[in-house]
Amino acid sequence: MYSINLEEIKKHIEKELSSERMKHTLGVISEAEKLAERYGVDKEKAKLAALCHDMARCMPVDSIELAHAKMAADLLKCEWGIEDPDVLNAVTYHTTGRPGMSLLEKIIYLADAIEPGRNYPGVDRLRKLAYEDLDKACAEVMRQTIEYVKHKGCEIDDNTIKAMEELLAKERSADEQ
Ligand SMILES: [Fe+2]
Ligand SMILES: [Fe+2]
Repeated sequence: MYSINLEEIKKHIEKELSSERMKHTLGVISEAEKLAERYGVDKEKAKLAALCHDMARCMPVDSIELAHAKMAADLLKCEWGIEDPDVLNAVTYHTTGRPGMSLLEKIIYLADAIEPGRNYPGVDRLRKLAYEDLDKACAEVMRQTIEYVKHKGCEIDDNTIKAMEELLAKERSADEQ
């Protein structure tokens, strides 16, 4: 049911986004597809969420880093009739993460951070980790994000801290067993 919308939405997004951002989006799609395959998640949902995750980046308020995620989910719901809560949440929380993330949410969160166009220290290690342990990889991206945001002197989103703590606690209890 998603395939009809997917091509239509893609054409629309291609017109809206800069070529650089489109390249990033295509990278996120291919990474999300691979992660979905690895972790047994619906590939069509992963592709749709990946395609749309930055669709609001072209809007005038794109300077507000966090707003574009929520706005993209709103567009997806109101203009494109996508109601799947998992897809909408994956788009909404792709920048911050949140406690209780689904597999799809984690996949989109990670794919955004490690898609082939990303280039920052440690990204190759994260790429490897993403296919070995999804939770550990997410926690590590969150840790780095928190550090980066702190370094910039900006406020850290509470969702990111809580999500990271949740994943680390899960890891600890798994280690104890
Ligand atoms: Fe984004
Ligand atoms: Fe992105």
